Amino acid sequence: AIERTLSIIKPDATRRNLTGKINAKFEDAGLRIVAQKRIKLSAEQAGKFYEVHKDRPFYGELVEFMASEPVVVQVLEGEGAIAKNREVMGATNPAQADEGTIRKEFALSVGENSVHGSDAPETAKEEIAFFFSGLELVG
Ligand code: CMP
Repeated sequence: AIERTLSIIKPDATRRNLTGKINAKFEDAGLRIVAQKRIKLSAEQAGKFYEVHKDRPFYGELVEFMASEPVVVQVLEGEGAIAKNREVMGATNPAQADEGTIRKEFALSVGENSVHGSDAPETAKEEIAFFFSGLELVG
């Protein structure tokens, strides 16, 4: 089925001018960027987005990092987009990511891992609605 997923290009990647190279990976994999904006999250917004991780030991560090510099939030659309995006990103920890994946090529560490992608249809829906209004989504 055609799906949509929420993607974030994280501060470690925007800082190193990797937005275009990362977008090329998505587009080459058949994912269409149907919405995109570059924003600077407040710590409060980052904390809310990652609320599900609030009891994890890395939560504070994660929130601080995500609010440190601009991010690019985007909606990717395509056949099986949620799983396909996760394939293109590679494993969360770049040390475990496959060759050719975004995290293998660009990520610096498990925290500074260049991209985020929704993990399931329900979270994709919530995460897209967190950043985008219906009016901003043009298939
Ligand atoms: P993401 O897909 O954005 O979802 C939660 C994030 O937490 C994850 O990517 C990692 O960047 C981050 N994360 C997971 N484990 C750790 C860790 N051990 N230390 C720091 N950050 C982590």
